[in-house]
Amino acid sequence: MSTPFAGPEFSLTDDLTATTEVLVVGVFSGEDGIALDDAVPEAARGPVADALVLVGATGKAGDAVRVPSPAGSGLGAASVLGVGLGPAPSDGAPVPAETVRRAAGVAGRALEGVAAAATTLSRLDLAATVEGAYLGAYRFAEFRNTSAPTKAPLGTLALLARPGGEALAAEARGTVEQARLTAAAVALARDFVNTPPNVLSPGEFADRAQRLGTDAGLQVEVFDEEYLAANGYGGVVGVGQGSSRPPRLVRLKHVAGVEGAKHVALVGKGITFDTGGISIKPAAGMENMTSDMGGAAAVIATVILAAQLGLGVDVTATVPMAENMPSDTAQRPGDVLTQYGGTTVEVINTDAEGRLILADAIVRACEDDPDYLIDTATLTGAQMVALGNRTPGVMGTEEFRDRVAELSRGTGENGWAMPFPEELRADLNSRVADLANVSPHRWGGMLVAGVYLKEFVAEGVQWAHIDVAGPAFNTSGPWGYTGKGGTGVPVRTMLAVLRDVAQRG
Ligand code: BES
Ligand code: MN
Ligand code: ZN
Repeated sequence: MSTPFAGPEFSLTDDLTATTEVLVVGVFSGEDGIALDDAVPEAARGPVADALVLVGATGKAGDAVRVPSPAGSGLGAASVLGVGLGPAPSDGAPVPAETVRRAAGVAGRALEGVAAAATTLSRLDLAATVEGAYLGAYRFAEFRNTSAPTKAPLGTLALLARPGGEALAAEARGTVEQARLTAAAVALARDFVNTPPNVLSPGEFADRAQRLGTDAGLQVEVFDEEYLAANGYGGVVGVGQGSSRPPRLVRLKHVAGVEGAKHVALVGKGITFDTGGISIKPAAGMENMTSDMGGAAAVIATVILAAQLGLGVDVTATVPMAENMPSDTAQRPGDVLTQYGGTTVEVINTDAEGRLILADAIVRACEDDPDYLIDTATLTGAQMVALGNRTPGVMGTEEFRDRVAELSRGTGENGWAMPFPEELRADLNSRVADLANVSPHRWGGMLVAGVYLKEFVAEGVQWAHIDVAGPAFNTSGPWGYTGKGGTGVPVRTMLAVLRDVAQRG
């Protein structure tokens, strides 16, 4: 592993006359022209706005326009980068955190090659500015030769702070540190997803999770293929048996050390590459199946983050890892396997492998009697058909499902609650086993996968299943704080849930 992306350094400042290369300001779009965010100093507002308009600034979200600092503006920055925030909220309502996060992300991308910058966006939302700038500046360069003509990412970002005493300053430093750790966790999930499948085998993935988890003070267990076979993990073994690189199951535990702490179990799909197996996928786009461990990546990053933030909730991550390959040892369509816990399954389609490894992990996770269980997976192409590339589908027990979806929207990851229509269950009846792994038709494919998983969630556990097939991996152009490749979704959703459970139970 080369050194992970470290992100820009952040400092707090109250002085926009200090020398720096670029000052990032927010620009609102309005019916009669643009307006700069309130924290831009009075003397600079008119000249900066005029200069931005001259080169085409509109204030629309996604907009980024850089101009030399106008003479006499009193700014210490050599240039000003205006990033669009869209229309100003009416009645002085706050600018939504996600609007600030995306604008800061646009800045983080635009400031490639800049060593030192400052921003007023932090006065709108400090944490969102840090997260957005860090994630916008993110890049994955491990497999590029150093001779490649890539500019260095943004070096340092000075954040304009609210005026106030030492208490406020200490609080602001805490906010920056937590936001930086959050962004670093998202970046870790991105790194895992971006690491190519020849390098990130199940064994390598487990080793890396073990190393990082141990460093963060987690209790870590790694189970190999012999243990899994001897202990009845038929789903993980069946999916992994076609590959020369055997499967793993990793467990990572954060103990809150708080009296009466709730317990949240996390489960993430860790298919390091999904060829489909014997039910092989078409060649076009198959390379994107390097992202099929996005759920596992997010879960590992989240439990590490829970420890780093010292969250007052117990968190156990159960992470099955396998490579889905066709070979003479691969499982066949028609095989019957036994999931952990004893349920038998007719494997009609070896490409519906995610649910097979998740079912084992869910049963194992439920043995600990968690209060809540969140599983997340790049589970179905049907998620993308239903909701597109940026909207995770959230299923599960109704109350917790709705809570998770709402919290997800608060983070900007934008999960959406989906139903389990009761008629779908009968489609998973098998000719020979307790269950079939696919239904005989294509309709509601995302929901069918959820209905399959539901069979394995213990009575009384509040459960949410987050399908991130599209949202975990960006195959289009960069936008906001999201570049091409791994996105780190749904790390911030799971963090929001852990924080909410720590606070409200
Ligand atoms: N990993 C895929 C789902 C996927 C597709 C993720 C596209 C990201 C982008 C999953 O294992 C799969 O192959 N699902 C099948 C299920 C089907 C056989 C019932 C699918 O969606 O086609
Ligand atoms: Mn598949
Ligand atoms: Zn898959």
